[in-house]
Amino acid sequence: MKNNITGEIKKVKGDLAAEIDKRLADKIIEKTNADLLKKLIEQAETINEAIMIAELGTTYKRTGFHFDKRLEKMTDTIKYFKKNEKLSFVQDKNALTHKLITGDNYDALLNLLIQYRGRVDVIYIDPPYGKDNMGEFAKTNYENAITRDNLLSMLYPRLVLARQLLSDNGVIFCSIDDKNQAYVKGLFDEVFEESNFVGTLIHQRAKGGGQAKHIVKGHDYIHTFAKNISNMDLSRQKIIQGKTVEINGEQFIRNDDIVRKVFGKYDGNEDRRCFYEQLLEYKGEDKKKEIDEKLKTGELVLEKNKDGFSVIVKYERVDDAKSKVYSIIKILSEIGKNDLEAIGLTNFDYPKPVELVSTLIGFAAEKDAIILDFFAGSGTTGQAVLELNNQDGGKRQFILATANEITDTTPNGIVNDVTSKRLKRVMTGECYDGTKDFKWNEENKPLGDNLDVYDIATVAPYSDEPFTQIDETLYGKEKLGVKEKIQWVCENFESTTKTLEDK
Ligand SMILES: C[S@@+](CC[C@H](N)C(=O)[O-])C[C@H]1O[C@@H](n2cnc3c(N)ncnc32)[C@H](O)[C@@H]1O
Repeated sequence: MKNNITGEIKKVKGDLAAEIDKRLADKIIEKTNADLLKKLIEQAETINEAIMIAELGTTYKRTGFHFDKRLEKMTDTIKYFKKNEKLSFVQDKNALTHKLITGDNYDALLNLLIQYRGRVDVIYIDPPYGKDNMGEFAKTNYENAITRDNLLSMLYPRLVLARQLLSDNGVIFCSIDDKNQAYVKGLFDEVFEESNFVGTLIHQRAKGGGQAKHIVKGHDYIHTFAKNISNMDLSRQKIIQGKTVEINGEQFIRNDDIVRKVFGKYDGNEDRRCFYEQLLEYKGEDKKKEIDEKLKTGELVLEKNKDGFSVIVKYERVDDAKSKVYSIIKILSEIGKNDLEAIGLTNFDYPKPVELVSTLIGFAAEKDAIILDFFAGSGTTGQAVLELNNQDGGKRQFILATANEITDTTPNGIVNDVTSKRLKRVMTGECYDGTKDFKWNEENKPLGDNLDVYDIATVAPYSDEPFTQIDETLYGKEKLGVKEKIQWVCENFESTTKTLEDK
């Protein structure tokens, strides 16, 4: 009997030490602390004591950056993907199938790790910034958390999981506002390490002075981190800013900002074009001559606009376009609103412009990349991936996860009332009810491909149910035999029983 107990303590200590090693590999704790904890576990007199010591190593602040962290705990339920047959659709069995996951992204990320650990090339996230204070955010996430702790506590464990999903040359972009950007940068430094900081892009989203008392804040930030900066090369991709056009089978970028860009502002108003007819008056003899030369060589082209003015335009081959990444991206927020309105949806505030996300993906990802957005909201990232694929024949796959948050304008939840509808409409050219009367359809062809929508379901681990209810084919597996299935579930789903304190 005594031998049995000693054997059991030894086994538990071994398991706990292995768990500490895993946390070390996942960068949740530091090496010096891991070593000390393992030593203390070894010296523990009872199983309980060993477990309590191991719990001390649940989280550890590495940069001295203080906030109220949520701890991971084990619960009694396994979380798994369950296909939502009503919202999923197949148009072409040979085409790509993208994914939309409904629910808390913490559970979604744990489940995604089963199939996609180290395989995701680009992550774009746009977490909720909150309004006047981050307490606003508490309503959808942690009931009792307050202020900025809330955002950081929520993001921290999710970033740890996101990092594990990224491939060795992967990149993560995070949109964030002026108020929170410094704190969120600190959090990213902690999880991704400062040496993997690529830079912070500035997204200019508004023009004009607005009602600002002091500084006009017409921009957000996009923190950019690599999984491993020595493996990452953003400039390997061509930037495709703006829509491309096909001429004789080749892709060109059409740029009608050319006079302003090359010769400076027109009359102090940034957004007005300089038309050819007004060139002499505003730019003088020399500039007109220079433009005329370029028009002769074909470097520039004149095109009539709807008012009859000649617009000076430049077409640049996509393959020749500069592959530098500039730190300021100017795409106004209202474009995001218009993108969604064109699809017949007006019930989601502040969607990001499709072009913003496609620009980021355009320079960060290969054409067959896997792209993840786990604060997907209205599904902008999905549309951006589909548009890029349609422009350059790419086979990028998107995975979106977002909470089915109920708001005043989305009584059935965001996923039902916005995200799935948006994707269905742009992918098939039809609403779920078969109607086609939205503006986007008049100017665009359906973007194609198939969509799998998954809900997050729960099941108790101490029964046969996990083996019958979990569908391995939703995790990229062929159907498994009974024995293999049991082994596969046991090996992979324990991590999904993790949950966060205070939920
Ligand atoms: C700022 S919005 C993202 C908007 C998105 N970029 C777009 O263009 O539509 C953040 C979204 O994340 C969702 N969200 C917040 N907390 C979440 C969580 N823990 N898990 C999943 N989604 C969450 C919110 O419901 C909201 O729709």
